[in-house]
Amino acid sequence: MAEALELRIGVIGAGGRGGLSFAAHKPDEGCRIVAICDIRKDVADFYEQHLGNKPDFHEDYHDLLARDDVNAVFVTLPDPFHEEVAVASLEAGKAVYLEKPMAITIEGCDRILETARRTGSKLYLGHNMRHFPVVLKMKEVIDSGAIGEVKAGWCRHFVSYGGDAFFKDWHAERKTQTGLLLQKGAHDIDVLHWLCGGYSKRVVAMGELGVYNRVEDKRDPDAYGSAAFLSDEHWPWYNQTGVNPFADVEDLSMMLMQLDNGVLASYQQCHYTPDCWRNYTVIGTEGRVENFNDSGQATVRVWNHREDCYREHGDIEHQLDPSSGTHGGSDPAIVNEFLDYVRKDIPTNTSPVAARYSVAAGYQATMSLRNGCMPMDVPMLDSELEDYFGRGL
Ligand SMILES: NC(=O)c1ccc[n+]([C@@H]2O[C@H](COP(=O)([O-])OP(=O)(O)OC[C@H]3O[C@@H](n4cnc5c(N)ncnc54)[C@H](O)[C@@H]3O)[C@@H](O)[C@H]2O)c1
Repeated sequence: MAEALELRIGVIGAGGRGGLSFAAHKPDEGCRIVAICDIRKDVADFYEQHLGNKPDFHEDYHDLLARDDVNAVFVTLPDPFHEEVAVASLEAGKAVYLEKPMAITIEGCDRILETARRTGSKLYLGHNMRHFPVVLKMKEVIDSGAIGEVKAGWCRHFVSYGGDAFFKDWHAERKTQTGLLLQKGAHDIDVLHWLCGGYSKRVVAMGELGVYNRVEDKRDPDAYGSAAFLSDEHWPWYNQTGVNPFADVEDLSMMLMQLDNGVLASYQQCHYTPDCWRNYTVIGTEGRVENFNDSGQATVRVWNHREDCYREHGDIEHQLDPSSGTHGGSDPAIVNEFLDYVRKDIPTNTSPVAARYSVAAGYQATMSLRNGCMPMDVPMLDSELEDYFGRGL
């Protein structure tokens, strides 16, 4: 068997989500983080603490990409940089792990896909929810035929920490991330597409910025803005502090999707709920599947015979054990999948085409809600690009 490619890794946007890359540092297995790039120099200290050695530090990502000894990069920068840095990394011949959302526009996604095809550089999209145990179990149930032919998929997303994570820094502004149906919703739209077996071809949405625009404690307009997850102190929403004074994205939004296989789907997102989880249900011609809790101790229940009353536990109940690792164990899983894909060409759960369609649906839904709830068609991806990367469903 051919020996796996040795990886010398660079991390661009090394703080925050960049910490995900620690799981890729396995010197004994031929994977090593050798360089990082960030605007914050102190980030290098975290790497030293976690890795035991300090990778080379670059302030400018071009310098990191110019290194011949780096053959793979994690791009874990804020969303507005994804397109530019992913394209430059692919052009430089690096294998790329790119965080979701792929980009903040549909054109941006298509440019990344076109660059990856033209250069032949490997592109991997960090949709870690395709490794959430509840999502994998629901997919297994649906693929087994236990609920018949899928007709509808619904997702309710309760984001208790929304004020902390999305209304203080760049996440709060249209100009840096388009809207939260795209930024945050890209995860769930992708899961709905995957579970329901089709991509959105038409969407319509409604939404508003209803509470965080009314918080009085705003941050300094010149500061970067950082999330502090203070559940007790920042509840209810009017006790939130340090809100981005330029916040103009919606904190409540709802969208409907018509998929290209005829399935109808919906997604609701609220950023000031008291609890935090996602609830999916998929309805087929012969049953229904639903999750309770989305990580940790979670259950997936299936109802597949009729009784005209409430049945809490359904007909079949799958208990899922807590997995270790962040985001329900999906973060280490997704890093390993990236490494295996780059080094051994092993097929992946995640898909660049699917990532593009989650952005495309979220983008068009955002345009819908900002334009009188007008239904919007989702532009299809060039068929040659889809053939090159595979359909991803
Ligand atoms: N898949 C997930 O579950 C998940 C979770 C969190 C974040 N994310 C994604 O990760 C990305 C980063 O999010 P975050 O919350 O860590 O952002 P962040 O604001 O914390 O930024 C990440 C790092 O990039 C650095 N940075 C910012 N601008 C830079 C620049 N111009 N050049 C170099 N470094 C720069 C910051 O200093 C920081 O260390 C986003 O795209 C987000 O959607 C994904």
